[in-house]
Amino acid sequence: MNYPTWTIDVIGSGWVIGLIAIIHVFISHFAVGAGLFLPVTEYFARKHGRTDVLDFLHHHTRFFLVLTAVAGATTGVGIWFAISLVQPEATATLIRTFVFAWGMEWVVFLVEVASLVFYYYGWEKMSPELHQKIGWVYAATAFLSLVIINGILTFMLTPGTWLVTRSFWGGFFNPTYWPSLIMRAFVALSLAGLWGIYQGTKLDRDSFLRIWLLRYSSRWLIPSYMFAGFILIWYLQVVPDPSMAAMTRGIATAGVGNLSILTRVAMLIGLFTVTIALLVLFGPYLNPKDFTRAKAVALLIAGFFVTGATEWSREVIRKPFAIRGFMYSNGLYLQDVGKKLNTPFIENARWARLNPDIGEAMFKMQCMSCHTLHGYRSLAISLAGRDAESIYNFLVVLQKGSENPYRDIMPPLLGADADLKALAAYLSKEIAPPPSGGAASVKP
Ligand code: HEC
Repeated sequence: MNYPTWTIDVIGSGWVIGLIAIIHVFISHFAVGAGLFLPVTEYFARKHGRTDVLDFLHHHTRFFLVLTAVAGATTGVGIWFAISLVQPEATATLIRTFVFAWGMEWVVFLVEVASLVFYYYGWEKMSPELHQKIGWVYAATAFLSLVIINGILTFMLTPGTWLVTRSFWGGFFNPTYWPSLIMRAFVALSLAGLWGIYQGTKLDRDSFLRIWLLRYSSRWLIPSYMFAGFILIWYLQVVPDPSMAAMTRGIATAGVGNLSILTRVAMLIGLFTVTIALLVLFGPYLNPKDFTRAKAVALLIAGFFVTGATEWSREVIRKPFAIRGFMYSNGLYLQDVGKKLNTPFIENARWARLNPDIGEAMFKMQCMSCHTLHGYRSLAISLAGRDAESIYNFLVVLQKGSENPYRDIMPPLLGADADLKALAAYLSKEIAPPPSGGAASVKP
């Protein structure tokens, strides 16, 4: 609570991170998969003297160069910009804990991009042996960048022994590190397969290369997809209990039609995954001639959806924490809750002093990381019809410790009684419908 806040209406600050992150996740996994797809396929083509395949790879390397070096890099840096504005406190913890890993990530990424540049320009100017070697360097560094960032990503959901020891390695190789790494690697391979299928459909319908490419790429996709599914089960087993509860609560009530959004999304992910694998088996793999480009585009969209939905779920099960068991999404340290809960808010939040309305400061610093007033997860809707007193009664519940039914979805509320009243007054004023005839009547 020691930083100013950034107000994003309508979509809310969380979705600023979310939108950038989902695009970046798709691109970066794509790049990791391509990192292996290019040199492996080159190796195969050279071994069998397939010049048509080599031409194809040559022609498409530029796409991966732009994708990785431009789109991947800007969205990757964009995430750090966005999280440091939206969640400065959590970002500071990540940097303090992992500064060394973060530095390595930059080095590895630099080598990755440099080797891809050489790989791209080297098609015509290098000996085949050297070109192939550079391809392997690209593959290795692309994968290494995943190996590193995966430690920081999984740390936020399962900080593991770090919570006690504060040890770098304890946080890095945390309980979800391995399943997440292996699952992401398989996802990367299957995305490379998806891309190959799509490119294949652009070729002449009866061309030999088209049929070969569709079959070959399907072999990248189908097994990776199936393995990723099994690894997902392993992953879910190491996810902390309260997070799983949010998911299974929904599943247990599936029969009575009371599903949590998360459960619905999880079921959709499962459904899409199986559908994609079957579509590829019966489409490009078994019937490469009949597989059209429109179908390939549909596959790509489905792949994008599954990747996005999986990332979104991972974010949701971490809530209400930014770093589970350590810091809430609004920057409140778990260890501070006991001693700060009922103290005047202004003592715990320096920037709140600049705001003449303590109620507004309370909203911005304690609610806005998850809610907007009128847009995403709107408080105007959640609190509709309530007056200041009834909102105050709700806020009191947020201070009730183990009797607070919202403790697994919202952080406890800091503030003395007067602060809660101020927040209730602020919210009731903000969510009240505009006075009749006011905003609607336009003067001629
Ligand atoms: C960590 C994220 C997070 C923070 C911070 C947070 N909330 Fe929530 N809140 C949620 C979630 C998730 C729900 C579940 C309903 C939904 O998805 O809209 C929710 C639901 C609610 C509801 C509806 C409750 C019901 O029973 O229907 C209200 C009212 C609410 N929040 C008010 C607040 C207020 C006021 C604050 C700030 C003091 C706050 N929230 C802070 C995540 C958060």
